[in-house]
Formats: sequence, structure tokens, C-alpha cells
Amino acid sequence: MNAQTASDFSFDQTELRRVFGQFATGVTVVTTRGDGGAPVGLAANSFSSVSLDPPLVLWSIGLKTPSLSAFRQHSSFAINILCDQSKSLAQQFATPSEDKFAGIEWQPGLNGVPLLDAAATVIQCATQARIPGGDHEIYLGRVVDFCNTGKPPLVFHAGNFATLGDRI
Ligand SMILES: Cc1cc2nc3c(=O)[nH]c(=O)nc-3n(C[C@H](O)[C@H](O)[C@H](O)COP(=O)(O)O)c2cc1C
Repeated sequence: MNAQTASDFSFDQTELRRVFGQFATGVTVVTTRGDGGAPVGLAANSFSSVSLDPPLVLWSIGLKTPSLSAFRQHSSFAINILCDQSKSLAQQFATPSEDKFAGIEWQPGLNGVPLLDAAATVIQCATQARIPGGDHEIYLGRVVDFCNTGKPPLVFHAGNFATLGDRI
């Protein structure tokens, strides 16, 4: 079978983004440490659980994203799952800035990786594999610790933030 890329099918990228955005997700801030130990983080909704035994998760980062070099250099990261009160925090971490952590309360976790106080759930991981994924790099992480408050999650769907409606 021939390898085929999206361009072989002439997909309209704006429409494809809209289609992918139909999948409702939670919102995370993925954190690590950068040069000189500086905290690094970005908003990411590509997070997914993968395996219980061994405990594995994945997420992906765009190849043009400035934070990428920090994730390549550091061997661990944390998934901070945001609660429904954290829309502005998500926006802060989705906007390029010299100091994304301004006004953000956090504590150092394993290997000094920043853990956000406001997170509903924190999953600390050792990077197990970096896998090419088109215009993204996929990070497979082995879970080494976690903590869960049970706060309700922030949701992302069709380009908008939302909160959970009634459970059915
Ligand atoms: C809800 C939401 C989800 C996002 N998910 C991802 C993602 O999974 N991977 C990614 O590379 N960028 C994602 N982004 C975009 C990054 O957060 C944004 O490009 C950010 O500025 C990258 O950080 P940096 O500029 O400090 O490297 C997302 C943005 C939003 C608002």
C-alpha cells in the first residue's frame, strides 16, 4: 500500500480542523522544565489515556511550538487536567509569552516538573517514547504518580470552552 498524506486527498485544512474539533475533550496544561530549570507549559487537548498495565498516556505537540525543545530535553512531564473554573488559565497557557507562569501557583514535582495548584487532576510521567506524527510529535509517557481532586472538568468542543451539562 502506498503511503498517503492528507495532501494526496486535497483536504481543506480549515474544514479538517473543524471535523477534528467535533470530538469533545478535556483541557490540560502539559508542563516540564526548560533551560536553567525554568517552568514550561502549554495548553493541550491531545491528551489520551493509553494503557493501565503498564500505565501509559499520550499527548502531542506541534513541531513549530516553541515549548517543543524543552520537552525533547527533559525526560519527564506532567499532565495537569483543568477544572471548570480554569478557562482563563487555559487561555494563558495557549498564548505564547515570555512568562506563562506569571500569577500561576505551582509546586515542583518529580524532577522539578511544575504541578499547577489549580489543576483538578495531576498525572506525573516519565517520557517513554517520542513518536513522529506528521506536523506533531507524539509523547508516550509512563505514569509515575498522580493525584485527583474530583473537581468537575473544563471541556473543549468546536473551538469553544464549556462545562459539563447534566450526566445522562
Ligand atoms: C484548548 C486548546 C488545546 C490545545 N492543544 C494543543 C495540543 O494538544 N498540542 C499543541 O501542540 N498545541 C495545542 N494547543 C495550542 C498551544 O497551547 C499553543 O500553541 C501554545 O502557545 C504553545 O505554547 P508555546 O507557544 O509556549 O510553545 C492548544 C490550544 C488550546 C486553546
